[in-house]
Amino acid sequence: MNSIRTFRKMKHKNEKIVMLTAYDYPSAKYVEMAGVDLILVGDSLGMVILGYENTLNVTVSDMVHHAKAVRNGAKDSFIIVDMPYMSYHVSNEETKRNAAKLIREADANAVKLEGGKPSRIEAIKAIIDCEIPVVGHLGLTPQSIYQFGGYVVQGKKEADQEKILEQAKAIEQAGAFMIVLEGIPEKLGKEITENLSIPTIGIGAGRFTDGQVLVYHDVLGMADFSPKFVKKYMNLSDKIPANLQKFINDVKEGEFPKKEQIYAPMDK
Ligand code: KIV
Repeated sequence: MNSIRTFRKMKHKNEKIVMLTAYDYPSAKYVEMAGVDLILVGDSLGMVILGYENTLNVTVSDMVHHAKAVRNGAKDSFIIVDMPYMSYHVSNEETKRNAAKLIREADANAVKLEGGKPSRIEAIKAIIDCEIPVVGHLGLTPQSIYQFGGYVVQGKKEADQEKILEQAKAIEQAGAFMIVLEGIPEKLGKEITENLSIPTIGIGAGRFTDGQVLVYHDVLGMADFSPKFVKKYMNLSDKIPANLQKFINDVKEGEFPKKEQIYAPMDK
């Protein structure tokens, strides 16, 4: 299994790191079979699995439930689990307990949390103090959408770019082993990547990050909405209903089940 040392070496060898999300047993199995470097059980599951409008209603129990299934499907993969909204905001003690729950109950290898202000840096340090590897997440962090006024690209102004770069450095100094950069201009993605010794993983952050992550449902064309940065490799949302309709029609027209699908079929 890959480890935090593998990812650091990949950055230094200029080898791109590929992360995909997974949320259940089958998605984890396929993502591992495809050969990703690491898997993220993202709180994006609130939207793509649970049908919520955003990620804010996702709970620690939701994350444990899905991460367990992901581990069952991807026994040999390095798995990061998102800490959901309000699971690392109240106190260091609560933060540590929630992070440990994800590691112990879901058999995850690391946790990810959003933001880079001083209280987040404290949260990162508290989790690392429990020997749990942490991934930071900066830029268009979905748990802050009400603060941002929507899904708005971050770091467009020079002052904001400086702030995000400083936060990235603080996250590295706090001991995180990786940072996800989401929804920022390519120039800022490049600058942060060049200024850090830990790997950066981009999603809507341009070409120059050390790796890329996309959401499973986006790659396979199963999501309701596709942001600009997504590349769809197929369009499953067109194919699924059409094939389910074939089953419905077969049953209605007596075409299913046929002899080969029947135990001890009668002659007539
Ligand atoms: O929740 C998620 O899937 C994420 C990725 C989009 C980075 O945080």
